[in-house]
Amino acid sequence: MGPGPSDVHPRVLRAMSTPLVGHLDPSFIDIMDDVQELLRYTFRTDNQWTIPVSGTGSASMEAAIANLVEPGDTMLVPTNGYFGDRMASMAERAGGDVVYVDAPWGEPLDPVDVQDAFDQYQPDVFGFVHAETSTGVKQPDVPQLTEIAHSHDAYVVADCVTSLGGVELEVDKWDIDVAYSGPQKCLSCPPGASPLTLNDRAMDKVLSREEDPRSWYLDLSLLEGYWGDERAYHHTAPITNVYAIREALRLVAEEGIEERWDRHLRVANGLKAGVEAMGLGLNPEDDYWLPSLNAVLVPDGVDAGAAIGYVLDNYDLEIAGGLGALDGDIFRIGCMGHSAQEKNVAFLMSALGEALEAQGADIDVEAGFAAMREQFAE
Ligand SMILES: Cc1ncc(COP(=O)(O)O)c(C=O)c1O
Repeated sequence: MGPGPSDVHPRVLRAMSTPLVGHLDPSFIDIMDDVQELLRYTFRTDNQWTIPVSGTGSASMEAAIANLVEPGDTMLVPTNGYFGDRMASMAERAGGDVVYVDAPWGEPLDPVDVQDAFDQYQPDVFGFVHAETSTGVKQPDVPQLTEIAHSHDAYVVADCVTSLGGVELEVDKWDIDVAYSGPQKCLSCPPGASPLTLNDRAMDKVLSREEDPRSWYLDLSLLEGYWGDERAYHHTAPITNVYAIREALRLVAEEGIEERWDRHLRVANGLKAGVEAMGLGLNPEDDYWLPSLNAVLVPDGVDAGAAIGYVLDNYDLEIAGGLGALDGDIFRIGCMGHSAQEKNVAFLMSALGEALEAQGADIDVEAGFAAMREQFAE
């Protein structure tokens, strides 16, 4: 129950033991078609350009940025978490100029600040993090942000690594041009093949670049030869990871995407009610609380690292601490994919309660359990 990878569903593990076929085998091409269709379903998009990029979430992130940002383009990135910095680094390496829209760690971007940044810098590309894993913040007002960007003719790139398959995400309805994700969070799949989708408008920019992107491996105009109609060799696909993501996405479709968002919300609501009644606060306000990653405030006098170690040593349960500006201030507790189950929340409450009591924290574990049970009974 850390910030990912989450527990992998047994069916996905079984799919990974399927014997290998070649990356151009007709049966594998059928599997590629399945993955693309299921990714469209999960992203809620009709985008033709929807693929699993070979590599971890950073590969789909770099495929988005390195292809869309051309030398001399300006990219606007957020400062409110760890992954905005990574966007900035990738945009610079692509030859872009980077400008920033500020918000403190632990808060979302304010559309007024985004509007001001657009008026000031006129960026070509705007990146934002829909679900910031470092702070447990969900970016609200996404359609408002995309509207601001489009009224300035800019392209919008959304980091959906910790939201895809677990938190409401509507790529087409919200008018997001490019969205990328990773498989190891709410899809509960091992890292290795990472979702990416681009609309035609973004892909037109990519295909009409004057200069090739600096990465050969992630050049979408070349990857198009493999994932598009031609199905020609570009690189050897990570066959086993493609089997895995197909099975993980089938599980999403069997459950239903909206039902899956509801399950994450219900289970995380139990966790939230429980820790709050125990006497612990959550860092983000309710309006931008991220169900898939709960940033729980560390009580006064508690050593976060020691509590995390206690939970791991005594319960074999993984949770994480804060990063950057929130180091030592928060626990990061995931509620993702196959791990998002009521019984896991009860186990977590028990383990964390004991770890905090061992350090003499002033908490009420019984009240926490009562609130959690009440929430689950609703
Ligand atoms: C919001 C966000 N973006 C990007 C990444 C990078 O993904 P990966 O570590 O799989 O390369 C992560 C990883 O945790 C993430 O949480």
